[in-house]
Amino acid sequence: MTDSATPTGSAPEGADPEALRQRALAALLTARERTALLTDSVDDHELTAQHSPLMSPLVWDLAHIGNQEELWLLRAVAGREAMRPEIDGLYDAFEHPRATRPSLPLLAPAEARTYAAEVRGRALDVLDGAALDGGGPLVRSGFAFGMIAQHEQQHDETMLITHQLSSGTAVLTAPVPPAVTDAAGLPAEVLVPGGPFTMGTSTEPWALDNERPAHVRDVPGFFIDTTPVTCGAYQAFIEDGGYTERRWWRPGGWEMVREHELAAPLFWHRDAGRWLRRRFGVTEEVPANEPVLHVSWYEADAYARWAGRRLPTEAEWEKAARHDPASGRSRRYPWGDEDPSPELANLGQRHLRPAPAGAYPGGQSPCGVRQLIGDVWEWTSSDFLPHPGFSPFPYREYSEVFFGPDHKVLRGGSFAVDPVACRGTFRNWDLPVRRQIFSGFRTARDM
Ligand code: AVJ
Ligand code: FE
Repeated sequence: MTDSATPTGSAPEGADPEALRQRALAALLTARERTALLTDSVDDHELTAQHSPLMSPLVWDLAHIGNQEELWLLRAVAGREAMRPEIDGLYDAFEHPRATRPSLPLLAPAEARTYAAEVRGRALDVLDGAALDGGGPLVRSGFAFGMIAQHEQQHDETMLITHQLSSGTAVLTAPVPPAVTDAAGLPAEVLVPGGPFTMGTSTEPWALDNERPAHVRDVPGFFIDTTPVTCGAYQAFIEDGGYTERRWWRPGGWEMVREHELAAPLFWHRDAGRWLRRRFGVTEEVPANEPVLHVSWYEADAYARWAGRRLPTEAEWEKAARHDPASGRSRRYPWGDEDPSPELANLGQRHLRPAPAGAYPGGQSPCGVRQLIGDVWEWTSSDFLPHPGFSPFPYREYSEVFFGPDHKVLRGGSFAVDPVACRGTFRNWDLPVRRQIFSGFRTARDM
C-alpha cells in the first residue's frame, strides 16, 4: 500500500478483518511483554521512586497503560461500566503533571499489575468479538486496538527513558547492534530532487490523527546527510567551542546553555581528556561512529549552524524517507511498503543503543538516505502543526492541544520504539529544551 493524494483505487493493506485481528492481538501481546520486562526488572522501591521530575514513577505508567486500555477498549468500544471509577483522575495525564505524580495515592505495584492484567483479559475478549470490517471508526480495521498497542509502546519508550535516568546499576542488557560494512564508501550527503510529493496518509489503518490526511506538498530540491550526525562529529563542535560561542545559538538555546552550564549531550562527561557516557547504568567511552543521542532541539540547531547547514524541515524529512523518484509515489517506509524487520532497522529495544552510522544498507531510501527509521529520533526544524484537513480523533488531547510553536517535530523513531508505533508518516513532538528523550538529528542544505 502506498499513499497517493490522487486515489489509485488500491485497497489498504490488511483490509482483511481477520488479518487485522491477528495483527492487533500480536501487537497487544508484544507491548505487554515489553511492559513486563521494564517493570519486573526493578523492585517495588524503584517502581514507586521518581528518578527525575521530568518523569513519572514506573508504577504510574503501568496503571495509566491499563487505564487507557480500559477507557478505549472496554468503555468506548464495548460500552462497559468503569471498573474503578475512583482511579480515573489519578491516571489522567492532564490532571496531574509528571512532577506531582509521586505524591498521588497511586495503586501499589501489585495492585497496578492486577488491574492492568484484568483489563487486558477483558480487552482480548472484546477483540475476539469485534466486527472489524464495519462499525464506527473506532472499531473499523481494529483502529482502537492498534491505537492502544501504540499507546502502551509509547509508554514503554517513556519507561526506558526512566530507566536511563535512574542512577542505579544496570538491570537491562541487550546484544550490540550490527556493525557497518560499507560506511567508508558512503557519500556524506545525497540529493533529494525538487517537486511535489504526497505527505501524510489516508490509507494506513492505524495511523494516528496527526498523520492524516494524505496531501501534496511541493518541496524544492535539497541535500540531506546520508546518516544521522555522529558523536565524533558532535565532539568536533564541542572542541571548537560550540557551547561557548553565542553566535551558533538561538536566544532560547543560549539561555538554556548558560542557565544549566551545558557543555555536552546529556549523560556525557569528560574524564582525563576522554568523553565518557552513562548508558543504562554502565559508564563507557563515547563511540565516535554512533549517532549522537540525548541532544535538545537547540543543540541540534546550533550544531547545524556551526556546520554551515540547517535542520531539515519536517516535509523534507518525510520526502527523504518516503518519496520514490522512479514512481513518484510515497512509500510506507524508506525501503518500501513491507513492515520493519531486524535486517532493515534498529527498533523495538532489541538493542539498547543506536547502531553505528551507515548501518542497515537494506533499509535505505530510494535516494540513498540511511537510518531514517529507528536508531535515534531526528529533530526537524518544524513546529508541530496539523496537516491540512486534520480532524482530531478520537480525543483532542492526543495531538490537537500540542499544536503550535512550542513543540518541535521529531521523526523516524529510535531504537526504543516498537514497529507498531513507527512509520514513514509517524510524528513525535517535544519542547526544544528536552534531551532525556532518545533524540539525535541529521542536517540538510538548500540545493
Ligand atoms: C507522542 C510521545 C509526545 O508521551 O507525551 C502517550 C505519546 N500520548 N500518552 C507522550 C502519548 C498519550 C506522547 N508523545
Ligand atoms: Fe499516555
